[in-house]
Amino acid sequence: ADEGGLMTLVTATPEEGFALAVKLSQKAVGTTQTDANVRQVLRGAYAHDPDSLIAVSQVVAINFQTISAANNYWRE
Ligand code: HEM
Repeated sequence: ADEGGLMTLVTATPEEGFALAVKLSQKAVGTTQTDANVRQVLRGAYAHDPDSLIAVSQVVAINFQTISAANNYWRE
């Protein structure tokens, strides 16, 4: 079963690959801060901080690079 949705890096499309990159990034946060209540409290802070949002984009971009490579850049 595809428990956490992280059983494979292989996706059908780049769009699905990007969604997986976001999920993978969030998974790291959930692994690091396991208290959902603390994450909820911190959400407001990072969601309104441009630098935090740029940092989020960077983490997602790095994961997207890995996923893109794993999918051979979706080339035929
Ligand atoms: C919501 C991505 C880091 C806490 C979300 C959403 C996305 C996202 C896409 C959904 C927004 C929506 O649909 O409303 C990410 C990524 C992260 C990251 C890619 C890191 C690279 C964090 C951190 C925290 C956090 C560091 C707190 C410690 C939350 C919480 C929500 C949320 C609590 C739910 C907000 C709600 O439902 O009102 N995040 N996030 N996230 N994030 Fe993050």
